[in-house]
Amino acid sequence: MPLGMKEYGNMLTKDQLQQFDELGYIFLPNTFSRAEMNVLGHELPGVFAQRRPEVWREKNDESVRTAFAAHHYNEAFRLLAHHPRMIQPTMELLDGPVYIHQFKVNAKAAFDGDVWQWHQDYGTWARDDLMPEPRAMNIAVFVDEVTEFNGPLMLIPKSHKSGVLEAGHDLATTSYPLWTLDKATVTRLVEEGGLVAPKGPPGSLLMFHCNLVHASPGNISPWSRTIVYISACHVDNHIRRFQREEWIAHRDFTPLECEADDCLIAYGQRMQSAS
Ligand code: SIN
Ligand code: MN
Repeated sequence: MPLGMKEYGNMLTKDQLQQFDELGYIFLPNTFSRAEMNVLGHELPGVFAQRRPEVWREKNDESVRTAFAAHHYNEAFRLLAHHPRMIQPTMELLDGPVYIHQFKVNAKAAFDGDVWQWHQDYGTWARDDLMPEPRAMNIAVFVDEVTEFNGPLMLIPKSHKSGVLEAGHDLATTSYPLWTLDKATVTRLVEEGGLVAPKGPPGSLLMFHCNLVHASPGNISPWSRTIVYISACHVDNHIRRFQREEWIAHRDFTPLECEADDCLIAYGQRMQSAS
C-alpha cells in the first residue's frame, strides 16, 4: 500500500511514515504525560519485589533486569498494553490488528543496570519462535527520563533493511541469553547508517522496526532508566513454535482492543481513593 494510504488509523503523519520506512524508527516525545508515567512508576516497587520467574534479575541476583509479562499480573501495565496512544500507531504501521508477542519492563537500575548487547529482536523471534515475517514492532515507553547518562537505547538507522543478520548465542555476558551480532557487522552498519540514542522525558514513545539493530550500555549513573518494551505482532503473523516460556513469547493471538484514553489517570485516581 502506498505511503499515506492508511487503512488502520491516521495518527501518524506522512513524514513520520516515511521516516519509519527509511530509518526504521519514529520518536514521539511526550506521548504520555508525567502524571500517567507516575501511575506506572508507583507500581514498580511492587512488581520488582516479586520473586517469580517472570522477574529476571541481573547477575548480582538482586537488581531487576526485566519484568516479563507484567501486563498479566499488574493492572496499570495491563492498561498500558491496551492504550490507544500505543496501539493505534502500531496498527497503522503494521496495517492491521495486532497482539502482544512480548512485554517487558526493563529496569536498568541505577549503578547496577547491565548492558544489552547488539542484536535484532526479529532474529530471535524467527529462530526461536518461528515468527513467519518481520511484521512486528517494538514500542518503547519511557517511564523514567532517558539521558546520555543512564544507559539510553542506541539504534542503527537503516539497519532494518538488512534482513536477519547472522548472530551468535551469547550465554555469558549478562544474566539473559541473547542472539548477538559480531563487531565487524556492527561497524559496517554504523558506517552506513550512523548511530542515534533517542533521549527524552518520561512519557516519550519510541517505535522501531523489529529488524533494527540496537543495544544499550550499562547504567553506572545514580538514576534508574525504566523503559517498558511492548513487542506487537500482526495477528496473521503469529508465532508457529512454542518452545520458549509463554511469558517470554505469548500464545494468545487475540487482537488487542483499546482501553479509554484516560485509563491510566482513572486507575491512579481509583487507587488513591482506595488507600
Ligand atoms: C532490548 O533490546 O530488549 C532491551 C534494550 C534496553 O532495555 O536497553
Ligand atoms: Mn531488543
